[in-house]
Amino acid sequence: MKMKISSSHTHQEPRAQQSYQLSNSNYVQVRAYRTKDLQNCRDIFTQGMVQLISLVLRVVFPRYIWLSSASSLFVLVLVVLFQWTSTAFYLYILTCAIALSMLYIHVYIECWKFINSCLATDLRDIEKTYMTNDGCHMWVAEWSGKVVGMVGLVHNESHKPGVAELQRMSVSPACRRMGIARKLLDELLNYAKDKRLERLVLTTTNAQTPAIRLYKKYGFKLVAVFLHPYKTLSDLQYQCFELHLRENDFTNRKSMQSR
Ligand SMILES: CC(C)(COP(=O)(O)OP(=O)(O)OC[C@H]1O[C@@H](n2cnc3c(N)ncnc32)[C@H](O)[C@@H]1OP(=O)(O)O)[C@@H](O)C(=O)NCCC(=O)NCCS
Repeated sequence: MKMKISSSHTHQEPRAQQSYQLSNSNYVQVRAYRTKDLQNCRDIFTQGMVQLISLVLRVVFPRYIWLSSASSLFVLVLVVLFQWTSTAFYLYILTCAIALSMLYIHVYIECWKFINSCLATDLRDIEKTYMTNDGCHMWVAEWSGKVVGMVGLVHNESHKPGVAELQRMSVSPACRRMGIARKLLDELLNYAKDKRLERLVLTTTNAQTPAIRLYKKYGFKLVAVFLHPYKTLSDLQYQCFELHLRENDFTNRKSMQSR
C-alpha cells in the first residue's frame, strides 16, 4: 500500500505541501492536533503501548525461562539420583509455571499502570497540555480523514530553557513501516528549529527497538540508561536519548527526507 504524504505545521500556517511515495489518491497529512482528535489519539497511544507488553516480555522472560529450565533439570537429576517420587519434579515444574505466570501478570499490570497514568494526565486533555502551553505541541498524521499517528513535544518547568521532550510517538499498527513516524518527526523538528530549541530529549525502553532505530536514524544519541526499579524487571532499561539541534543534525534529517 503506498500513500501520498504531506505535512502542515499548524492549521493556521500551512507549510509547503510535501508529497512522497505517490501512487493513489490517498494522503497522509501531518497537521496540528485538533480537539476532535482526542479519542483517536488516546486509542493510538493505547494500541502502541499494549503491543509494548509483548516486547517487554521478550526482554524480561529469557532470563527466567533459562533459570526455570536449568533448575528443573537440576531437580530432575536429584529425583533420579536420590530416587525421589516423580511428584517432586512435577511440583517443581508447576511452581516454575506459576512463577512465570505471575511475572507475566506483573508485566501486564505495570504496562497498564503506565498507560492509564498517561491517559489520566497529559492525554486526558491534549488540547490543554499540548496546545495551550507555550513550548508544547502535538501533531497527528491523518490518512483518508482518519488519525493514524501522533507525536507530542513538551516543555515544562522540569526542562531547562531551550530543551523540550518528545513524547507519545505512536503510529496505528495497520499503518506502520510507511514512513509516518518519519513525517511526524520531520514536522516536530521543523517546529523545534522555528522555536530555536537547542536540544530535544526523550526516554524510551530497550524493549522499543523500532522506536530506538528511528531515533538513532535522526541522530539522537543515547545519554543515560536506568534499570527498571523492580529487581524482577531489571532486564528492562529506560534509555534517555538527546538530539542537539545543530546544523549538522538538520542536515542528517534532510538526508532522511530525501530517501
Ligand atoms: C516506533 C513507531 C512510531 C514507528 O512508526 P512507523 O511509522 O512504522 O515508522 P516509519 O515507517 O516512519 O519508519 C522509520 C524508521 O523507524 C525504524 N523502524 C520502524 N519500524 C521498525 C521495525 N518494526 N523494526 C525495525 N526498525 C523500525 C526504521 O529505522 C525506519 O526506517 P526505514 O523504514 O528506513 O528502515 C511505531 O512502531 C510505533 O508506534 N510503535 C509503538 C509505540 C512506540 O513504541 N512508540 C515509541 C515511544 S518512545
